[in-house]
Amino acid sequence: MNEETHAFDTPPEGANPDWTIPQDWSRYSGEEHGVWDTLFERQAKLLPGRASEAYLRGLDVLKLSKPGIPDFEELSERLMKLTGWQVVAVPGLVPDDVFFDHMANRRFVAGNFIRKPDQLDYLEEPDVFHDVFGHVPMLADPRFADYLEAYGRGGLRALDLGALKQLARLYWYTVEFGLIEEEAGLRIYGSGIVSSYSESRFALDDPSPNRIRFDLKRVMRTEYRIDDFQQNYFVIDSFDELLRATTETDFAPLYEEILQQPDIPIAEIVPGDNVVTHGTQDYARRKAAGEAEIA
Ligand code: PHE
Ligand code: FE
Repeated sequence: MNEETHAFDTPPEGANPDWTIPQDWSRYSGEEHGVWDTLFERQAKLLPGRASEAYLRGLDVLKLSKPGIPDFEELSERLMKLTGWQVVAVPGLVPDDVFFDHMANRRFVAGNFIRKPDQLDYLEEPDVFHDVFGHVPMLADPRFADYLEAYGRGGLRALDLGALKQLARLYWYTVEFGLIEEEAGLRIYGSGIVSSYSESRFALDDPSPNRIRFDLKRVMRTEYRIDDFQQNYFVIDSFDELLRATTETDFAPLYEEILQQPDIPIAEIVPGDNVVTHGTQDYARRKAAGEAEIA
């Protein structure tokens, strides 16, 4: 998850001008590799039948010569052969233009720290498990790989056009929290879902959230929450559809149009929505009443 407001304007001590740092794989402790292995095993067991075919196919690229947290060099070599992408380490969140520029050049920026053993289920900043387990398998898919590169270029353009918030919502509701309708049924592909034990189930099985067919303008008008399960998920038909809907559209006039319109509140169904599941919002209500468990 990479669309927060960023704290620094210049790279911290020891980082390169493009904000990358060495991953320093040999510095991870046995306990840190153990956290990766525990999370990996738990998710790998849960995801067949839940994650999209593209994601499950891509999981193989994470199986490297050494166990534990993937070594970015070896991982990048593999990914490079498949789709031309690389994974580079950064110290945490980076400025938007830096983030987009790496992406436009097929470099995926990943945090190199890993959560502590007592934070397996919840953390606020994306760590190497979210960034690598969540995002990298999708980068092995040629269409998704193209989508993300185009998104990077689109990001630089959105900065110029004053539409960063609108474009960030597209990232949120596709790259991070996207669902896809496959022949076998509804599947998850968003990295925020596939890397979460609880949301991997909630996003597909729970009656609370709305599930709505993907529509570019609708998505870019929709607010989102970063601190809990989503109350809306958007469903694409295929990665081809997503790639075409975004790369074959000039966003400048779209931004102009939607910047005149009100934002759509979280959980609201609006006229024109093609609703797959009209959510009960029961989870959100129980949560507000202090009954539901912390996600
Ligand atoms: N086509 C978009 C534009 O004109 C760029 C873009 C491509 C954005 C793919 C997101 C994903 O700005
Ligand atoms: Fe992310």
